[in-house]
Amino acid sequence: MAPTSPVRFLTGITTTGTPHLGNYVGAIRPAVQASLRSGTDNFYFLADYHALIKCDEPGRVQRSTQEIAACWLAAGLDPERVCFYRQSDIPEITELTWLLTCVTGKGMLNRAHAYKASVDKNTAAGQDPDADVSAGLFMYPVLMAADILMFKSHRIPVGRDQVQHIEMARDIAQSFNHLYGEHFVLPEAQIDESVAMLPGLDGRKMSKSYDNVIALFAPPAQLRRQIAGIVTDSRAPGEPKQVEGSALFQIFQAFATQDETQQLRQAYADGISWGDAKQMLFERIDREIAPMRERHDALINNPVELEKILQAGARKSRELATPFMAELRHAVGLRNLSAVASATDKKSKAAKGALPAFKQFRESDGLHYFKLVDAGGKLLGQSAGYASPREAGEAISKLRRFANAELAKSLAMAQGASEAELQAALAALRSS
Ligand code: TRP
Repeated sequence: MAPTSPVRFLTGITTTGTPHLGNYVGAIRPAVQASLRSGTDNFYFLADYHALIKCDEPGRVQRSTQEIAACWLAAGLDPERVCFYRQSDIPEITELTWLLTCVTGKGMLNRAHAYKASVDKNTAAGQDPDADVSAGLFMYPVLMAADILMFKSHRIPVGRDQVQHIEMARDIAQSFNHLYGEHFVLPEAQIDESVAMLPGLDGRKMSKSYDNVIALFAPPAQLRRQIAGIVTDSRAPGEPKQVEGSALFQIFQAFATQDETQQLRQAYADGISWGDAKQMLFERIDREIAPMRERHDALINNPVELEKILQAGARKSRELATPFMAELRHAVGLRNLSAVASATDKKSKAAKGALPAFKQFRESDGLHYFKLVDAGGKLLGQSAGYASPREAGEAISKLRRFANAELAKSLAMAQGASEAELQAALAALRSS
């Protein structure tokens, strides 16, 4: 990569659920800030094909796509500056998924954490290992590889749980490049350890699965209500309070300047009531969120406008995806039949010169034999008889590996063949 070419970042957001404060602090806010760095290219997309893997409620997929798009735009993502699009608007993504599927080892997908977790759970429950596992879940890493490789992304900011997927995308890219030439950039995961992990209402990590979230763009009255629900201890007003282990304090800190944090710390020491501390938190969050909430609500109330923004993003990303897909189709041989085969095509086995071959057969004596023929079909050698096809097969495999030592033992030279021809045939097989 030339030092002047920008580093390209790509972020996918699965469209299930409604963004909450934890998503904002942990993902949306840092990503929007990152999109402003100079010398970078930034791609953000709504991974709605991925949503189908875990969600079969059409209304929910649609609503979530709308809410997440509105949230990211309201939080300051500038569609003029970045590439912001919806995955399912790019048909090239599914097309690429198939090309990648064909160079992906099934064994690698068997080892994917998400799939393995389902299999382990089923096995532990005494069920069929693949019970309730869709092929979509199994193929998840390949779809994700298509997302990443389509746009030649260098860095993928992800949480630890996604690192394996980036490594798989890299593996898949390498296989494809090896077979068809250097078409793909090899991506790397980027894990940001510094982003805050926000506690939820009950002090555990804020997460939909714990049902402890504070909605990001709820109306102020609801935000206030949810903040009132943050778990605190039973210290009375006037009693000093501890900041350690206080979810309220940690959430405040995620929004506040150092000075403001210091003020709350002092207030805790001075015995602020929990009611007043919650009021401070509400005001601090609302100050940051209110202008965004306005933009968010305007977008939610104007789906036509939102759709227009996404369509513009789709056009922009397809300007890259469409010609790249054409290049890839050509590379694998999906071509206009009037096109001339390219000089860079990997030579087929036939074009390289056909290979010599072992052929197994059974004689009327009931024994199993094999013979070695050269590329043109000329008989070079013939084996003794074996009691089973398995034993004959083992002899063949030994011959392929240790031609010199085994040759005399298991293969009688055919009339009209030479030792040199035999050795050459075995060498050709070994290097094939
Ligand atoms: N799998 C990611 C997640 O659940 C979302 C995603 C889909 C993604 N495609 C991607 C992330 C490509 C990065 C790059 O968080």
